[in-house]
Amino acid sequence: MFAKLITAFLLMVFSFPAFAATELKCPVAPTTPWRTALNEADLKKYVNRRHDGNWSSYIAKWERQIDTARDVLGRKKALIIRIDKSRLPLRGDELAIYITGMEQRVETAYCLAERKRMAENIREIEKLGPAELAKRSVAGKRTAIQAGCQNCHGDQGVSNKPEIPNIGGQRLGYLANQLRAFQKDKSINTHLFGSSMRSEKIMLQSAKNLTPKNKLDIAAYYASLNCGGENNKGTSAPDQPESAKVCIACHGNNGNSISQMVPRLAGQKKVYLVNELRSFRMTKGNSSSFRFNNRRHHQLMSAIAGPLTNVEMRELAVWFSSQTCEK
Ligand code: HEC
Ligand code: HEC
Repeated sequence: MFAKLITAFLLMVFSFPAFAATELKCPVAPTTPWRTALNEADLKKYVNRRHDGNWSSYIAKWERQIDTARDVLGRKKALIIRIDKSRLPLRGDELAIYITGMEQRVETAYCLAERKRMAENIREIEKLGPAELAKRSVAGKRTAIQAGCQNCHGDQGVSNKPEIPNIGGQRLGYLANQLRAFQKDKSINTHLFGSSMRSEKIMLQSAKNLTPKNKLDIAAYYASLNCGGENNKGTSAPDQPESAKVCIACHGNNGNSISQMVPRLAGQKKVYLVNELRSFRMTKGNSSSFRFNNRRHHQLMSAIAGPLTNVEMRELAVWFSSQTCEK
């Protein structure tokens, strides 16, 4: 599963280095004994009709159904499903097949939803030429000050608290995406790298009233600033830990990421990096494997952080934070 995700991801990144194209290939939801295969057009039609075109709502519904079905299977009971007008009890192996079929369907839905979102995000960012970006970042600065972002993230996007991330010089696409994620509180997001969710009380408060225009403006403003450096300057940079080898495919050789949607880690706060890796590890099973207020799930990052030990996380955080952020 993990290798499959990484391969899919690398394919995506290297096929769209400039994010010009958005033709992500999505799997067809296969036939199950109860339903015929659903191609893209069928699925889109269904989501438009039953969920007003809202993929998150479709996905959330079926993820709940999968969760219920797993619970019923675990208790060795029957799950009643409705096919057309009849009611069909499924148990044992049949129920297991039903669950697999549903999981595949949800995978397809994620992929289609993601393609839609990705196309929207990229269109938004690509539309912005340098002059427009400069204009937006002036507006963004104003909005950010009104909203009080500087109280925690510093005047230049470099915070002075270990658990508050630097956001100056961070990637525009990534910043806009995170602001969107914070606003949604506990609901699932789908985007370039699969499902994700980020729920954090402080940032929910700060982000909840931002409009789509505000978010892009603010993202443009912080992206235009210089990156901050972590406070371990002066001490000699540590050697790159072995465990960082897998990270650089996405986060770049020295923590300066290769894509709009992947955050720079170079110069980021150590404590913050460890906190985020831990949040990802806690949700390695799935987005709801831990229920607490501040949580973060990302299909890929949670799978990647899953096997890391606390010692490895610390080494990675120390190393990435000691790297120089280059814009
Ligand atoms: C009261 C303090 C506080 C205020 C005010 C605040 N933030 Fe944050 N911000 C945080 C904390 C803490 C986090 C880390 C959350 C976590 O651990 O997931 C964060 C995370 C972020 C992130 C994610 C960074 C990353 O690398 O993923 C962004 C983007 C961000 N804030 C932008 C803003 C903006 C824009 C505003 C103003 C509208 C703002 N913040 C106001 C405390 C604050
Ligand atoms: C396959 C691509 C990929 C690989 C490999 C990868 N990451 Fe990530 N990483 C991402 C993406 C995409 C995000 C943004 C997640 C989101 O949108 O919530 C991210 C987010 C993060 C964050 C949160 C940063 C922030 O500002 O909040 C940390 C920390 C992180 N990764 C560390 C690592 C480390 C350490 C490794 C190696 C052990 C690694 N990543 C490997 C793609 C990757």
